[in-house]
Amino acid sequence: MSGRSGIPMTTVVPDRQALAAARKSLPGSVAVVMTMGALHAGHETLLRAAAERADHVLVTIFVNPLQFGPNEDFDRYPRTLEADLEICRAAGVAVVFAPARDEIYPGGEPMVRVDPGPLGGQLEGQSRPGFFNGVLTVVLKLIQLTRPDFAFFGEKDYQQLTLVRRMARDLDLGVEIVGVPTVREPDGLALSSRNRYLSAPEREAAVRLSAALRAGATAAADGLGAAGALSAARAAFGTPVGVAAPKLDYLVLTDPDLGPAPDGGPARLLVAAWVGQTRLIDNAAIDLVPPATT
Ligand code: PAF
Repeated sequence: MSGRSGIPMTTVVPDRQALAAARKSLPGSVAVVMTMGALHAGHETLLRAAAERADHVLVTIFVNPLQFGPNEDFDRYPRTLEADLEICRAAGVAVVFAPARDEIYPGGEPMVRVDPGPLGGQLEGQSRPGFFNGVLTVVLKLIQLTRPDFAFFGEKDYQQLTLVRRMARDLDLGVEIVGVPTVREPDGLALSSRNRYLSAPEREAAVRLSAALRAGATAAADGLGAAGALSAARAAFGTPVGVAAPKLDYLVLTDPDLGPAPDGGPARLLVAAWVGQTRLIDNAAIDLVPPATT
């Protein structure tokens, strides 16, 4: 459907019946971009990538209670629906599904959930027990409800992307999962809805996560190997001094599927840290090139 300006209109639907009708009205291929709202330039990049690949883009906006632990930020998570809808309209999104909690979990919390397997208990899953169980459960439900051809996820949440890919394959979901590179501030900080929690000194300190990744990538490219890349990354992250200093949760090197670190070739460096009350994560692809021989 087009508005007077000729720009396609965005249909906003709050419930599954309206979603089913809106979805049925979309001819051709559909890409879904699942979000918890608080959209930023990183999401806009996802929307653009989705629009390039599919005939229509469908966005979901739902702050999923199942993926927040009891002491996490569910209540204070930013909710900015009007601004989010403006971004979706400007990006030419066809349908926005913005359901209330009861629409997604009509009988309360679901008894049957997706088990993320062993990878779900590592890294983010170790620090946030139950997190990926909640993420995969809602992702599976949203895939069932939106019936997309493609689903786009940011590489910023690399473990989430890896597990969603695995779920799509292991459970034969019939949807292509597409990863989109992380969008960064000019100083390297990865865009995240949670960045808005940071005070000015915390924002300054938060740059240490991406600085660590850059140092690790440079050391790997210089032929310093897995151990050299990790120690360069640790050195660049630094030791926490002062109240705003980030406190490291993990800094690890893995293979691109989050298995054990390889001796050479493509690898992934992942970092998580607390900056004040805010937990930030970041990651980068690195290439472990062999040392130069003279
Ligand atoms: O990445 C997110 O915003 C969420 O984990 C997702 C995929 C929308 C599921 O709630």
